[in-house]
Amino acid sequence: MALAIYRKYRPATFDEVVGQELTVRILKEAAKTSHLAHAYLFAGPRGTGKTTTARLAAKIANCETRARDERFRAQGEPCNQCAACREIDEGRHLDVIEIDAASNRGIDEMRDLKESVRAAPAKGPFKVFIIDEAHQLTKDAWNALLKTLEEPPPQVMIILATTEVEKVPPTITSRAQTFHFRSVTRDEIAGKLAGIAKKEAVQASEEAFDLIAAAAEGSFRDAESLFDQVITFRGKKFSVEDVEQMIGKVAFMKLASFTEFLLTRDLEGALTRVEEIHDGGYSLLQFTKDVIQYLRRAAVLSYQPAMEKKFAAELTDDHLKTLLGHAKLFEPSHLELIKAFIRAYSQMRYSQFPLIPLEIAVIEGLKKK
Ligand SMILES: Nc1ncnc2c1ncn2[C@@H]1O[C@H](COP(=O)(O)OP(=O)(O)OP(=O)(O)O)[C@@H](O)[C@H]1O
Ligand SMILES: [Mg+2]
Ligand SMILES: [Zn+2]
Repeated sequence: MALAIYRKYRPATFDEVVGQELTVRILKEAAKTSHLAHAYLFAGPRGTGKTTTARLAAKIANCETRARDERFRAQGEPCNQCAACREIDEGRHLDVIEIDAASNRGIDEMRDLKESVRAAPAKGPFKVFIIDEAHQLTKDAWNALLKTLEEPPPQVMIILATTEVEKVPPTITSRAQTFHFRSVTRDEIAGKLAGIAKKEAVQASEEAFDLIAAAAEGSFRDAESLFDQVITFRGKKFSVEDVEQMIGKVAFMKLASFTEFLLTRDLEGALTRVEEIHDGGYSLLQFTKDVIQYLRRAAVLSYQPAMEKKFAAELTDDHLKTLLGHAKLFEPSHLELIKAFIRAYSQMRYSQFPLIPLEIAVIEGLKKK
């Protein structure tokens, strides 16, 4: 029962795009006044809404309802009902051309771009080229594009999307309106998952959504595919342990309780927990990375309490409270612990026996001086 959540729940309006407030505000304004630019550059980490927003801009340009209804135009959103909107959603609108710059086909399509932009739209009013993975374009392709951007035909809109904006030539960036998509927080991702769960009658705890969000490392798409996978394997009711087992990563609270053993110098408790993690089939490398991150947050908070604000944006309220408690336990001598774990992590990566460096780190980090 694959739901293909990331397709089903792709934002259909600007208002549904999470986290890209500035970008959304400016594009909505442009939509309201029908002043879309001829060239956009969407830059930012994977799975944060670049392609989604490009399609929204394409809909704004071609939505039939907007074209004839001024009241509708005032909303700054596509109608999502007309043939043009639906065809764009389904990826079959003749005037919305998505090119994957990284693929072979994309290379051919880029070669034809110069002629293709000159040809009038088939249905119109706008011909929109969405060029994904733009950082992969060849030098020739950039040149062809530059020519087009210098004198864009009036009915053409070009949207470049890239995860590596530093690879885009300055001649291009200076001719396109650039938007930086920011990486999204764990909380924002978990929030969207909880919303989808409600609509799909999926039952799972906040801790489970948080763990999926954490594993997705800032990508909505990764989070949504993972969510799909968990549902496929466990059904519409699953526990945080189910998620832990599927992804080999422990949930926040388990991590927190392990860290508490470390901070209170409970060697026996810590070693027993390491053993459990190992026997449970979790990735020890991932676990060590997560422990380092947790300790780092506790350390930063103990030295710089104002960081609470930043962490509040990344964590749930419960998690933040737990972390704050641990920050109070943090002492200068615990810095040795962080160092020991960082050393262990680099040894574990190349070791056949990752358990040993981890155990040694625990013992060394906690031994009495
Ligand atoms: N800002 C967002 N708000 C809500 N959902 C989002 C957002 N960004 C991405 N998603 C979800 O993730 C899926 C993939 O997003 P999208 O294709 O727009 O990412 P992208 O930034 O183009 O990523 P990539 O760099 O990997 O191409 C969407 O279908 C949507 O469900
Ligand atoms: Mg994309
Ligand atoms: Zn429409």
